[in-house]
Amino acid sequence: MKFFIDTANLGHIREAHELGILDGVTTNPSLMAKEGISGHENVIRHYKAICDITDGDVSAEVISTTFEGMLQEAEELVKIDEQIVVKIPMIKDGVKAIKYLSGQGVRTNCTLVFSPGQALLAAKAGATYVSPFIGRLDDVSTDGMVLIDDIRLIYDNYDFKTQILAASVRHPMHIIACAKSGADVVTSSLSAITALLKHPLTDIGLAQFLADYERAAATTNKPNA
Ligand code: G3P
Repeated sequence: MKFFIDTANLGHIREAHELGILDGVTTNPSLMAKEGISGHENVIRHYKAICDITDGDVSAEVISTTFEGMLQEAEELVKIDEQIVVKIPMIKDGVKAIKYLSGQGVRTNCTLVFSPGQALLAAKAGATYVSPFIGRLDDVSTDGMVLIDDIRLIYDNYDFKTQILAASVRHPMHIIACAKSGADVVTSSLSAITALLKHPLTDIGLAQFLADYERAAATTNKPNA
């Protein structure tokens, strides 16, 4: 399973990259705004800065909601770096744009996916990635993980090559559930990723090992011991 980080924060991207487990980055207009990135030129520059940190795929989302507008934006986005994957919303013009762009060899990430039917359309159109939002489904009392299971089943039935990129991942247990369900990629915050590191028994065990090492060293170094 690939690990993507879902942020536009360069510090967080750098930290995940330095951990050695980062396979890519996803962003969206809200995440860019959160970092105070606004205005066309600044947004483009920020995507370039992200691509300079990681070697993996970087999803850059279009703002337009029309077929022509999306193609125009896609053309500019892919010029930033070959790592760029054009993120396109699951709307009618979005499906048309994904179909067209995949025919041109442009990689796409179909976002805002909340149902198996939407995921089926994204795959039919040739999306490179499909982004089901599991946390937002959980927020409305619908089990987001059921959607991942459904999409996995559908894609496997027909050998669709579209990769399931689980998004709106809120905590480490989402990541584990996605790994168990066979999601191809999970995108999450740095805190959800680093939370996977933690276990109290690891901390207790390490403290014990170090204390025993020090005790043994003290005994060995004692004269006439
Ligand atoms: O990048 C899209 C998705 O991950 C958003 O997550 O937490 O805003 O629902 P969230």
